[in-house]
Amino acid sequence: MLIDSYDRVVDYLRVSVTERCNFRCQYCMPEKPFSWVPKENLLSFEELFEFMKIAIDEGVKKIRITGGEPLLREALDKFIKMIYDYEPEIDLSMTTNGFLLKGVAQKLKDAGLKRINISIDTLKPEVAHTIAGKDVLKNVLEGVEEALRVGLSVKVNMVPMKGLNADEIVEVLEYCKERNISIRFIEYMENAHAKVDISGMKSTELLEILSAQYSFVDNGFDGASPSHYYTMSDGYSFGIIEPYEDDFCKKCNRIRLTAEGNLIPCLYFDEAMSIRDAIKRGDIKGAALVLKEVVRTKPEKNRWGGVDGELSSRAFYETGG
Ligand code: 5AD
Ligand code: SF4
Repeated sequence: MLIDSYDRVVDYLRVSVTERCNFRCQYCMPEKPFSWVPKENLLSFEELFEFMKIAIDEGVKKIRITGGEPLLREALDKFIKMIYDYEPEIDLSMTTNGFLLKGVAQKLKDAGLKRINISIDTLKPEVAHTIAGKDVLKNVLEGVEEALRVGLSVKVNMVPMKGLNADEIVEVLEYCKERNISIRFIEYMENAHAKVDISGMKSTELLEILSAQYSFVDNGFDGASPSHYYTMSDGYSFGIIEPYEDDFCKKCNRIRLTAEGNLIPCLYFDEAMSIRDAIKRGDIKGAALVLKEVVRTKPEKNRWGGVDGELSSRAFYETGG
């Protein structure tokens, strides 16, 4: 079992298979980065899988594939199948922007993918264009329908931003509720790569809008999920992710692997250790040692609460959120 210095069990690995993305979301990557990691620096699926096996053997029970946009990487279903065949009990999920999902949802499901998270920040095509930098909504919504049709469990993420999509919180929730999809509102996390003038919304502001419309009870946190849950009288639940809250990190169970093999103990910080050379050498013990060291040095908390007005320089497109 992997246990960090604050007695948290680390059993969740998020794997970014590419930092490239076909969207330019304002809160993540409004401009194409000055340089991408060169393709030849990416670990192959076989190499990533070598590390997945180590992580699973050390106690990881949950793996999420992220990006950038993971569906930009060819033959992703083969990678999913490798993991599934090694350990079918793994809670295997993916975060995607949904743009390319329609054509591949069935293949992903057949390969062993269980769950999928998709961003729906708006239901207005022109607002979607403004947020993502291109006309994306139709494809995304078709992707959601197809994922549901093939039997993937679907969750939606929405990042509410003032002056952009804040007036659609109820509409997006209703869209999800009608389909019995769970929705999580994510407080905008400031970072050095995002568009500078974004004004996010705090959970108190979100709750004020939602409570004018619905009655619900506070269910607190559900297991190790970073989301605070609220349940309506008809049983439907929604979540709010509040990274600025003091106890956000208390139950953090996750570490992140980038596409070039950097293992990151916390989304906020720049610290990382590479498993790349060890994996390339076939040095399983060496890679396992790096994994343990990263778990050992996992910081107690993020600093989104603000220290000296410093902004996180970690790019979401590198870590997949
Ligand atoms: N703040 C909050 N959420 C973000 N995401 C990406 N960047 C940010 C940010 N700055 C979330 C999006 C997407 C997921 C990959 O990460 O909601 O669904
Ligand atoms: Fe948007 Fe996700 Fe792409 Fe970032 S990685 S630009 S959040 S779709």
